[in-house]
Amino acid sequence: MEIIKMENIAKLYKLGQVQVEALKNVSLSINDKEFVSIMGPSGSGKSTLLNVIGCLDRATGGTYELAGNFVDKLSDSKMSEIRNMFIGFVFQNFHLLPRMNAKKNVEIPLIYRGINTKRRNELAENALEMVGLKDRMHHLPSQMSGGQQQRVAIARAIVGNPSIILADEPTGALDTKTGELIMELFIKLNRKSMTIVQVTHAEEIAEYGSRIIRLMDGEIVSDEINGGKINV
Ligand SMILES: Nc1ncnc2c1ncn2[C@@H]1O[C@H](COP(=O)(O)OP(=O)(O)OP(=O)(O)O)[C@@H](O)[C@H]1O
Ligand SMILES: [Mg+2]
Repeated sequence: MEIIKMENIAKLYKLGQVQVEALKNVSLSINDKEFVSIMGPSGSGKSTLLNVIGCLDRATGGTYELAGNFVDKLSDSKMSEIRNMFIGFVFQNFHLLPRMNAKKNVEIPLIYRGINTKRRNELAENALEMVGLKDRMHHLPSQMSGGQQQRVAIARAIVGNPSIILADEPTGALDTKTGELIMELFIKLNRKSMTIVQVTHAEEIAEYGSRIIRLMDGEIVSDEINGGKINV
């Protein structure tokens, strides 16, 4: 089943007299439970595309349907609601709150959803267990390695049980070995039925996906099934 369906998506930025077509004519369908890697040179529109998919930003043209919701037609508040329900984000630099311990960071999306303390505790501990960091739940971000911080960020992304994980350069700040651990975690989540869409510069990281989409100057220039590392 298609969970993401874009037709002729455009994103035009206007800065004074200058216009940048960050995305043009992007038509893209992603099925439930796919693991997709998006590649392309710097400035090719990868982050812009991920932000539109994740309802952090709106397209300026085309139609976008996310899990049966026509996003272009939704109000901002409805769009945020859909985002909170369906999407978990992972970023290159983790985006953890520095003064909160791992467990508190993981609880944040649940606070937005108005879930009570007892249930929040349970869900946050389960999510940290899933990423192998239950024993670090009282640590601050500064007391953890980069790889551990990214695993906390992944726990935060999955704690509300979203259908889709969107990751923008999730291994960009990590060494090769640690990056591989993060990819193994993504594969585990993908097998537990989460759809994953990641942006990466690195071929060896893209290879973990079962499909690789390449962007150039805001357009999809290739979209191929990848036989690569599916079975690690
Ligand atoms: N807020 C903005 N205002 C104006 N132009 C923007 C804005 N955000 C991005 N752009 C432009 O849109 C194009 C695509 O940017 P984007 O950040 O999506 O690229 P990217 O593929 O993620 O690059 P990188 O690999 O460097 O992260 C670039 O030309 C960029 O300058
Ligand atoms: Mg980017």
